[in-house]
Amino acid sequence: MSKRKILVTSALPYANGNIHIGHLVEYVQTDVWVRFLRMQEHEVYYVGADDTHGTPIMLRAEKEGITPEQLIERVWKEHKQDFDDFNISFDKYYSTHAPENEELSQAIYNKLHENGFIEERIIEQAFDSVKNMFLPDRFIKGECPKCSAKDQYGDNCEACGAAYLPTELKNPYSVVSGTAPILKNSTHYFFKLSDKRCVDFLNAWVKNLKQTEAINKLKEWLVDGELSDWDISRDAPYFGFRIPNTQDKYFYVWLDAPVGYYASFKKLCSEKNLNFDEWVNPNSTTEQYHFIGKDILYFHTLFWPAMLKFSGLRTPTNVFAHGFLTVDGQKMSKSRGTFISARNYLNSGLNAEYLRYYFVAKLNAGLEDIDLNLEDFVNRVNSDLVGKYVNIASRASGFIHKYFQGKLSNELFNHELLNNLRSQENIISNFYENREYNKAIRRIMELTDIVNSFIDEQKPWAMAKQNDMQSLQQVCSLILEAFRIISIYLKPVLPNLISKVEEFLNIPHLLWNNINLPFENSHHISEYKHLMQRIEMTQINHLLEINKASLQENNTSQVSQNIEQDNHQKQHEYITIDDFAKIDLRVAKIIDAKEVEGSKKLLQLTLDAGEGRYRNVFSGIKSAYKPQDIIGKFTVLVANLTPRQMKFGISEGMVLAASDDNSLHLIEPSLGVIAGMKIN
Ligand code: 2FM
Ligand code: ZN
Repeated sequence: MSKRKILVTSALPYANGNIHIGHLVEYVQTDVWVRFLRMQEHEVYYVGADDTHGTPIMLRAEKEGITPEQLIERVWKEHKQDFDDFNISFDKYYSTHAPENEELSQAIYNKLHENGFIEERIIEQAFDSVKNMFLPDRFIKGECPKCSAKDQYGDNCEACGAAYLPTELKNPYSVVSGTAPILKNSTHYFFKLSDKRCVDFLNAWVKNLKQTEAINKLKEWLVDGELSDWDISRDAPYFGFRIPNTQDKYFYVWLDAPVGYYASFKKLCSEKNLNFDEWVNPNSTTEQYHFIGKDILYFHTLFWPAMLKFSGLRTPTNVFAHGFLTVDGQKMSKSRGTFISARNYLNSGLNAEYLRYYFVAKLNAGLEDIDLNLEDFVNRVNSDLVGKYVNIASRASGFIHKYFQGKLSNELFNHELLNNLRSQENIISNFYENREYNKAIRRIMELTDIVNSFIDEQKPWAMAKQNDMQSLQQVCSLILEAFRIISIYLKPVLPNLISKVEEFLNIPHLLWNNINLPFENSHHISEYKHLMQRIEMTQINHLLEINKASLQENNTSQVSQNIEQDNHQKQHEYITIDDFAKIDLRVAKIIDAKEVEGSKKLLQLTLDAGEGRYRNVFSGIKSAYKPQDIIGKFTVLVANLTPRQMKFGISEGMVLAASDDNSLHLIEPSLGVIAGMKIN
């Protein structure tokens, strides 16, 4: 196998919030890949950094009465500790607020400018004249132009769901100063993504991608060769890097964030005496991969490759996106305590490797969301890791110590059991390489089953009883050799556990090619110590409790701080117009509403959707409405949902409601509608 040179990154977390278990899906996914490739003895570098710039970070620091530099320094330490404690093996964890990043961002910008990709334009934007700053959309609030609900954000109403422009808000105010914003002109700098050269390049570059969903998205964005130019500047005051040859213009955080990958790597190169240019020049034979969440595909498959290409640098070999994490089938939620920070997980006493294992057992190479089902988590870890894997070692090692002073027998190569385990090497390594981790784990667990059945058949305890010492030593040694091979297969996922295993087996650090190198003659193993504890459900309950309590303490933290950035997620989660057209939405009048006996959540609605008959719909809105208060109201019905047989009867459709963790509101169309009107 020839040695590859590989640079790998995970997305850079913002420097104003905790690392939570949703982030960890990605870091674990990347780390496992990197560890696997290192075990195969390729030259691999894994870099990351905190994403430190932008308005939310600037304002957060101000609110805390500290400088942005102080804030990002504190958060960097917390993040670094979290990553270390989850065994995320960055070769360099840096910050985007670093001299290397400023230099690289400016150099890339200058090249883009030189090559005709930067254009100045005057745009009109909301301005806070008390704070003397332009306001991103999410920093403007006011009354909804449709339903007049108060305190709604500048882009959509949480009460009625309407979407609008910030300029349409009634009585708008700045979230920062509370005063009414004015409109003001400002010169902005745009990256001309609409340039034909960009579109042509991206049409060709898309062929590098491997994930069908990502390819489809990029193709969709490229349809008709129409890409919008990208506004890469922000006005002062802004925490970021100044744009060359300007006084008060800064790079938008998303311009210098991906450059941060290179800044981090450049720093590593200077520390390790590596040749940075060899890795980033357009003819480089090295490989470069970015692991990201599916919400930021736009930035990594359009902006970033185009920035690299037209500033004369190499482009990524591939971008690997993953889905989001749900907990017990639902979005992570503060009120349920499932918005779990990495630190709270560890503070509850749970082992980081339980979670690494569970994520890996669920992850595949696609973009689907993965679910952390807490009960399944407990069962799976206990059954697979403790019950099947670790158990193999404990079943054999006692005899080896008791009767043979820790010494193994010698013939450990040619046995059917071992040949079978070794023959899986290629399959399992392909699963790892292709990020089909769930399949790798399934296969490895099948192997643990085979070994456990072998132990059951051979019955070493009976051999001990019958004093058949030669067979006993032989069989237990075979079992431990099988355990050693399986440990190699699991090592990318469970580095800590396997390092304890290496100590117990008294062997050097395991590499992938050690699969075919059994224990040496007359090898002695160390005394067996407990390798892994079972999880108890009470520990999970404890975790949810401490997490809930700490969330209540910092109620104002993270989520509200990330508002500007979160917007990108919304903006780029697209469905096609055809997908949308499939949904038949109609105005329905609530003719009758009653409670449902035996149900805490449901109301039974009788709806007139203008069809000459009434529909029966069960709706989970009992917590928010009394039946008598909604009779006579209009709402929106999904009319072509497959009828569903419920415990209480058939539900013929679904009514729409808006909700968050604390409240729920039926969607009410505005006055003047009549039952049966089609919504489009
Ligand atoms: O979405 C986010 O959390 C961003 N901070 C990711 C940046 S990734 C890279 F481009 F820097
Ligand atoms: Zn509204």
